[in-house]
Amino acid sequence: MQTRWDPELYEARHSFVWQFGEGLIELLDPRAGERILDLGCGPGQLTARIAERGAEVTGLDASPEMIGQARQNYPQLKFLLRDAEHMQFESEFDAVFSNAALHWMLDARAVASGIAQALKLGGRFVAELGGKGNIAQIERSIDAILRRYFPDEMWERRTFYPSIAEYSSILEASELEVRSAQLFDRPTPLEGEFAMEHWIEQFKAYHFEALPAADRIVAIQRTVEQLRPVLFRDGKWFADYRRLRIVAVKS
Ligand code: BEZ
Repeated sequence: MQTRWDPELYEARHSFVWQFGEGLIELLDPRAGERILDLGCGPGQLTARIAERGAEVTGLDASPEMIGQARQNYPQLKFLLRDAEHMQFESEFDAVFSNAALHWMLDARAVASGIAQALKLGGRFVAELGGKGNIAQIERSIDAILRRYFPDEMWERRTFYPSIAEYSSILEASELEVRSAQLFDRPTPLEGEFAMEHWIEQFKAYHFEALPAADRIVAIQRTVEQLRPVLFRDGKWFADYRRLRIVAVKS
């Protein structure tokens, strides 16, 4: 089953996703008249920031719900409902940008090849995604709780959090020359007393789907309680995000 995106919940509770992305826009440094592709644009907030700099931007996302919301939020901008693993552009863009989306795209080689194909020669790829070790505490607790119900099953992660070396070699195989890469912790504050429940319900509900409804609620609560000593500090929940920020150029 695919992750179901709920744009309303996402915009109401997880606006930190694009608030943290503002710094990545500075790194992209969009210029007036440039053609820029925003991969995994979600509801379009960063696509709109890029457009404000005068660039001609296209937002692309595989989720019909997110693209619907992006079109409603910014009717003047161009959004495409498309899967980055199968996109086909021909040297059309000065830059490809992506924030907090590439870790959902499991065929990273196909995505890298599509990015290289989409860029003009000398064009840049500027991205941030979950890197190796991202949400390790959260995933460890989900594993531990699910193991009580299904001791013999391995959990499909459905996300890809690469190291600098892994991701650089994927990009370089598609002739994207890596110019800089950083892997860093970004403990991310979540809003409200029930923030970790909400985060798990929004992003990780699929791990609990095999359980009957009543057990599902209990299992999520047990996961939250197991996380409390490590991720609840001074009255606030944090997600143990770790980011990989990377810049490459089509050579
Ligand atoms: C992330 O942005 O790293 C992320 C968000 C939701 C679920 C998993 C990872």
